Amino acid sequence: MKVEEDMRQSFDLFFVSSNYHKYLEVKEILHSFGINIKFFKYDLEEIQSNSLKEIAFKKAADAFKKCKKPIIIEDDGLFIDSLCGFPGQYSSFVFKTIGNKGILQLLKKNRKAKFVSIISFCNDKISKSFEGKIEGNISKIQNGKSWGYDPIFIPLNMNKTFAELNKKNKLSHRYKSLKKFSNWYLHMMKSCDQ
Ligand code: IMP
Repeated sequence: MKVEEDMRQSFDLFFVSSNYHKYLEVKEILHSFGINIKFFKYDLEEIQSNSLKEIAFKKAADAFKKCKKPIIIEDDGLFIDSLCGFPGQYSSFVFKTIGNKGILQLLKKNRKAKFVSIISFCNDKISKSFEGKIEGNISKIQNGKSWGYDPIFIPLNMNKTFAELNKKNKLSHRYKSLKKFSNWYLHMMKSCDQ
């Protein structure tokens, strides 16, 4: 019994973040792929870099050091075409400062934008990242109630914001990066079993 418990614990996977909304989405999406995760609430420091991937790698290494179990973290951002990709890697800071209202005031005709999500896995041997993207447009006003930029992001070929859609978790940037991660992770776990 003890050995079995130890085995199970060694396969525990933690999502490290201070953002509970993200955790709920990650949990639901991974559950649909047959992977269960636990929440390790921790505010990870972010390095200054133009590359989300570089930020994610560093965050994952820090998260593993702190949690000492296999972990995943996410780094993501909203990239707006007419603002040369702003807020991008500064999405968290910009949301806390000017927020959705401020973003809406900055935009005119061209409202094209994309969300990018990087999921990084790290354990004692492996560090690996997976990217997901979704193209769309910034709405003219905020629509729907949800977290972050959800009330102002309309996925391409749709007429509702992420906040108004009940299928966000089946098409989002997060869904796409987690799908890639899940394929790799389940394959790796299977080969560990053999
Ligand atoms: P970070 O990855 O924790 O640095 O945060 C990026 C920021 O982008 C978050 O704090 C949110 O404000 C925003 N963001 C990222 N993904 C989403 C999403 O799916 N919906 C709404 N806002 C998001």
